Amino acid sequence: MKLSTLVALALACVATASPVDQTPFGLDYTHPGFEGFDLAAQRLVQIQGQEPIWMTELEKIQAKARGIKFFDITDTQDLGTVARLQVQASFPTPNATEKVKPILEILSTKGPEENLRKFSGFTTRHYRSETGRQSQQWLKNRIAEITSQWGSKSLQDLISISEFPHSWGQNSIIVRINGTSSDDVVVIGAHQDSTNLWPFLPAPGADDDGSGSVTILEAYRGLLAADFHPARTIEFHWYSAEEGGLLGSQAVASHYEGRVNVIAMSQFDMTAWVKRGTREEVGIITDFVDPDLTEFNKKLVDTYLDIPWVETQCGYACSDHASWRKAGYPSSFTIESTFGNSNKNIHSSNDRIDISDEFSFSHMLEFSKLAVAFAVELGSISK
Ligand SMILES: *[C@@H]1O[C@H](CO)[C@@H](O)[C@H](O)[C@H]1NC(C)=O
Ligand SMILES: *[C@@H]1O[C@H](CO)[C@@H](O)[C@H](O)[C@H]1NC(C)=O
Ligand SMILES: [Zn+2]
Repeated sequence: MKLSTLVALALACVATASPVDQTPFGLDYTHPGFEGFDLAAQRLVQIQGQEPIWMTELEKIQAKARGIKFFDITDTQDLGTVARLQVQASFPTPNATEKVKPILEILSTKGPEENLRKFSGFTTRHYRSETGRQSQQWLKNRIAEITSQWGSKSLQDLISISEFPHSWGQNSIIVRINGTSSDDVVVIGAHQDSTNLWPFLPAPGADDDGSGSVTILEAYRGLLAADFHPARTIEFHWYSAEEGGLLGSQAVASHYEGRVNVIAMSQFDMTAWVKRGTREEVGIITDFVDPDLTEFNKKLVDTYLDIPWVETQCGYACSDHASWRKAGYPSSFTIESTFGNSNKNIHSSNDRIDISDEFSFSHMLEFSKLAVAFAVELGSISK
């Protein structure tokens, strides 16, 4: 699609009256708390099946509001070309049941509920915003508290908590539990940023992706409370700027490419919504993912969860697992339901915990179980 077509498409949606089109802005629009966010800046954007195209930040916002999914590759044009490495890994039939099951007993909705009330209470966690920087600092401090509260001394000696710096201000967060007998790395991810269609509007982001963020944090707490010393290194990632075109995860994957042997990456993006009148299930994304790792996730659901899985698709570049796939690593994505039954309040000020009883912490807990099973099953293997 030509850029002009894209802009025409974006402007053609006035009929559906999104805030992006209603707002009387110009390219010199500035908003308090978003200092340095230049809507006229040129970005290189990759859309499925096309050559990358240059567009302004404003055109990028308009394209996103139209439902177009993309990588913003301005800073990571070499992603996937440096190593040309396709990591080969095999994923076993789950057999670490004796280790996994006691950890699942430790998991609770209590921490996730407290954490998400706070995390979705920031006006926005937009990656270019001042409050997005504050929410990131809060999350990092919370991770540090959980680590010292629940980690044994010997486990804490294996753990590092770091910020992966980004030019836009909100950094990604990486927590690493060093493996005791392997250089392989297992990554569990979520994105910490939120957005509204018009980025300057409030964006509580309770489901997208506050839910995934606190889901994997609870899984991390469970591993610590059980004093799990992994054979392979386990990393938890909270990416910045997923909503800007997978910026944070591309930067991290690009840094790892050719250097780090990530054998599996699992993304958790939206884990809380159970649409009224539908069966509670785990959506297993089957497009643009590693098929073997995806089959492995189904087995984990069958073995460890109280609800069944259902296959679904979400399209090109739909969350951060796509960055890892592009870098040549096996990656997968599990979501709250089929894509069709997922939360329709996202990217609005209604993405709140208290919007409806369809927002379910017990549903989220199933995803913490899945993350624990993923970490322990793959992390217990020393080769
Ligand atoms: C589970 O299977 C893996 C891979 O085949 C093997 O390395 C591991 O020792 C097995 N673990 C148990 C507890 O049997
Ligand atoms: C974890 O392992 C890496 C690589 O061997 C090492 O550089 C780092 O210091 C270790 N971290 C901790 C907390 O032991
Ligand atoms: Zn998301």
